[in-house]
Amino acid sequence: MVLEVNQLTRIFDNQNGVKNVSFDAREGETIGLLGKSGSGKSTILRAIAGLDNGYTGEVLISGESIDGPHPKVGVVFQEARLFPWLTVLENVTFTLKGNEETNNKFARKLLKQVGLEGAENLYIKELSGGMAQRVSIARAIVAKPGLLLMDEPFSALDAFTKMQLQDLMLDIWRAEKVTSIIVTHDIDEALYLCNRIIVLSGKPGEVEREFIINEPFPRDRGSERLAHMKKEILQSLQIESVRI
Ligand SMILES: Nc1ncnc2c1ncn2[C@@H]1O[C@H](COP(=O)(O)OP(=O)(O)OP(=O)(O)O)[C@@H](O)[C@H]1O
Ligand SMILES: [Mg+2]
Repeated sequence: MVLEVNQLTRIFDNQNGVKNVSFDAREGETIGLLGKSGSGKSTILRAIAGLDNGYTGEVLISGESIDGPHPKVGVVFQEARLFPWLTVLENVTFTLKGNEETNNKFARKLLKQVGLEGAENLYIKELSGGMAQRVSIARAIVAKPGLLLMDEPFSALDAFTKMQLQDLMLDIWRAEKVTSIIVTHDIDEALYLCNRIIVLSGKPGEVEREFIINEPFPRDRGSERLAHMKKEILQSLQIESVRI
């Protein structure tokens, strides 16, 4: 699915939020949103997810402006919003229609892929933060979205699990041609996953720069070109004094 964001402005308390943010995502592209805390990344995702209509500007999904959550848009929130009274498996299959057995089978397969085999019947309070994050990733993917919005989906994971899930997402995106917007604080992650990276800065947040990452997938995490781009991105985030 194609996404267009035109001149999105959402101001809270006269100063916070985002201003005149424009970008697009073509079919199957992954766009990274980077920016310091408070630069408006989650605000942008909420508008695209149809969860906030207090903005000016335009959000077009497949050419049509949205008025509420779109059935083909999947969201992984910054905090895993799971139903505490349902098990892991029930959380993942909750919104699915159709044959229960088929749905459960697919959900179990995804839970295995995110490293949660054996946790299907646990309740949410029995999970660690990283496990809950993985349940919400599985829940978003199970519905086969055309556009996937992810807000720091891997932030609570250890380095190894994080890399495994990044690779899983790459496989899914490439197989299913999912268009994705991923908010992250991790520049290496953005460089590994994204076709383009939008850097936001200021308060309210505005687009500072857009980086085009013209490297084929799967990428080499240690590539010199990516390391060079990382420096440029750090500069545009105004944290160039950090030693890397
Ligand atoms: N509903 C709201 N009411 C008032 N202020 C808000 C609201 N939502 C967000 N803000 C403010 O808008 C700014 C941007 O918030 P947002 O959550 O989009 O930032 P973010 O870039 O996602 O930050 P982080 O990296 O910490 O998640 C912040 O200053 C925040 O306090
Ligand atoms: Mg946020």
